[in-house]
Amino acid sequence: AQVDKGGHKHFMAKEIAEQPHVIAEAIRHYLPVEEDAVRLPGGGVDFSGVERLTMVACGTAYYACVTAKYWFEQIARLPVEVDIASEFRYREPPIPGKTLALFVSQSGETADTLAALRYCQEKADKILSVVNVSESSIARESDLALPIFAGPEIGVASTKAFTCQLTVLLALALKAACDRGHLSAEGMAEYATAIRGLPNVLSSALEQNDAIRLAAQKVSEARDVLFLGRGLMFPLALEGALKLKEISYIHAEAYASGELKHGPIALIDKNMPVVVLTPKDALFDKSVSNMQEVLARKGKVLMISDQNGIDEAGDDVWCAIRMPRVKEALTPILYAIPAQLLAYHTAVAKGTDVDQPRNLAKSVTVE
Ligand code: G6P
Repeated sequence: AQVDKGGHKHFMAKEIAEQPHVIAEAIRHYLPVEEDAVRLPGGGVDFSGVERLTMVACGTAYYACVTAKYWFEQIARLPVEVDIASEFRYREPPIPGKTLALFVSQSGETADTLAALRYCQEKADKILSVVNVSESSIARESDLALPIFAGPEIGVASTKAFTCQLTVLLALALKAACDRGHLSAEGMAEYATAIRGLPNVLSSALEQNDAIRLAAQKVSEARDVLFLGRGLMFPLALEGALKLKEISYIHAEAYASGELKHGPIALIDKNMPVVVLTPKDALFDKSVSNMQEVLARKGKVLMISDQNGIDEAGDDVWCAIRMPRVKEALTPILYAIPAQLLAYHTAVAKGTDVDQPRNLAKSVTVE
C-alpha cells in the first residue's frame, strides 16, 4: 500500500508522532491484556538454560541492542555481548555452548547483519531476530523472528522502529528474567502495567514539541554538540547523537557522563551545547555533578529530565525539556522522543533534506 505523510511535512515527523500508536500495537502482541506474562510468537524461547546472549546489529538497531544489554543484565542477570555487525563478522568470535544469538534489524536485509547471522547459524544454540519486515532475509533465516509492528518506516533516519525494537527487547528481557527466576509474578505484573501505560506517556512527551523546536533553533547554530548520559541514558545519548548528525549534519558525539573527565571536557566552551539526558533515577546525582562540570566551563546545557529533576538541578541550564515520570527501566523508550524531535527540528531549522539525508541509504544491502 502507498504510504503518505498523513498531513505532516516529512515522513520523519509522521513516524515520530505515530509512536504511541505503533508501540501500543507491539504491546498488544507481546503483553496481551488478559495475562501478566510475555507472549512470544511461534514456539517462543526458554531462557532457563541459556548462559549468554550475543546481540549484533548496525546503526540505530545497534543502539537498541546496547540499551537491551542493560535490561538483560540488570533484570534477567544474563551476561550479554553486543557488537556492530561489520566488526563481529570478521573477528571470528568464539560462540560457546548455550549461547543465544539475537539480531536486530528494521529492514531485515542489512548485509553485515545477515552475514553475522549466517556466521552464528551452526554455532549458536538458537538464532533470534527482532525485525520490522517479517518476510525479510534475516527473519527467514532465524529460528524465531520477533516482529516489532512499527509499520513501514520511510524516513531514512530510524525513529519508530527504534522505540518498537526497544519495546520488544524489553519484553524479551522480562521473559528471560521470569524464566531464570529473577522476576516474581508480582514484579512482572508491575512491569506489564507500566509498559501498558507507555502509549499515554509517549503522547505527553510529544506535547513538548514546541519547547523542543525552540531549543532546536539554538542548537542549529552549533558546529558540534555533545550528548551525555549514564546507565540506560548512555545508549540513548549515542542514538541522539547519531540522529542529529544523520539529518542535520552537525557533528555530534555521545559520551557516558562518567567519561567526561577523560577527554571530552576539553572541548567544552561557551559555544558547545551539551545535551544531558537525566531522568531523576538512581544515577541522577552523579549525572548532575557531571552537568555542573559542564556549566562551570560555560557549556550550554540542554537538560532533558522530569519535573523533579529540573526543579532540583535545572537553575543554571540553557534550556530544560520536561518529560513525564516513568518506571526507570522504561526511560530509554520515553527519552527517545525528545532526542528524535531535537534532531528533527534542528534539521528543519537548517533546511536539510530530513527524509533523504545526503549520502545515507535506508537499508545498506552491500558492504
Ligand atoms: C542504515 C539506516 C539506519 C539503520 C541501519 C541499520 O544505516 O540509515 O537508520 O539503523 O541502516 O538498518 P537495519 O535495517 O538493519 O535496522
